[in-house]
Amino acid sequence: MHGDVAVLVPAAGLGLRLGPGTPKALRQIAGASLLEHALSRVAASPSVGCIVVAAPVGHAREIDTDLPATPGVRLLVVEGGETRQASVAAALAAVPPGFAIILVHDAARAFAPPELVERVAAAVRAGHDAVIPVLPVVDTIKQVDEAGVVIGTVDRSVLRAVQTPQGFRRAVLEAAHRGAVDPLTDDAGLAEKLGVRVHCVPGDEAAMKITRPLDVALAEALLSVP
Ligand code: CTP
Ligand code: MG
Repeated sequence: MHGDVAVLVPAAGLGLRLGPGTPKALRQIAGASLLEHALSRVAASPSVGCIVVAAPVGHAREIDTDLPATPGVRLLVVEGGETRQASVAAALAAVPPGFAIILVHDAARAFAPPELVERVAAAVRAGHDAVIPVLPVVDTIKQVDEAGVVIGTVDRSVLRAVQTPQGFRRAVLEAAHRGAVDPLTDDAGLAEKLGVRVHCVPGDEAAMKITRPLDVALAEALLSVP
């Protein structure tokens, strides 16, 4: 079904791990900001009828006027908060009535393809309360103590690396945020605390998070592949 999904895009982070500069979502890669890259892919997903961006503090108005309009997709911009969770909560509060499915998608995962957005939305539509895209973990993972001494090796086969967009039935995401106490780095984590079953779908390598300078180089390489 077209247009039944609202996507929250937390974009208010500073990008400290990327090094000094403008807030991460506004940094340019191949002629467009990370936020523009993210939004063009989200808006290309036929399920999406509304996008709410949580903008970096002080940048909401310029983003609002700079972003191109996409036919059939309503775009709203709110000011983000001090944590990712606060930014998501601010965006969630701005979603108009009528959207029963809500996805949360990091602006920093700017190259997540529309197919991934569709896959997550379809799984929520099929009846799952909460859906996350995941990939197998490629590194060997060790648990260490405070002194940096290895305690043990974790069984990698039961681990998954989690991406966004994460999808929710609207009432589930609203309850998860109402019940939130400590800030978490993803929204499914809040739903888990409520006892919600979280369903996994295959992620996509292109949905990698732009975090460190090397990720920018990888993204540029990704974009240069025809
Ligand atoms: N985010 C947000 N509000 C915050 C912090 C983060 O909306 N107060 C968003 C970021 O803009 C990003 C996503 O959450 O799209 C994931 O965060 P992360 O990759 O950690 O981005 P930054 O916080 O910007 O980076 P850093 O932690 O290196 O400063
Ligand atoms: Mg951060």
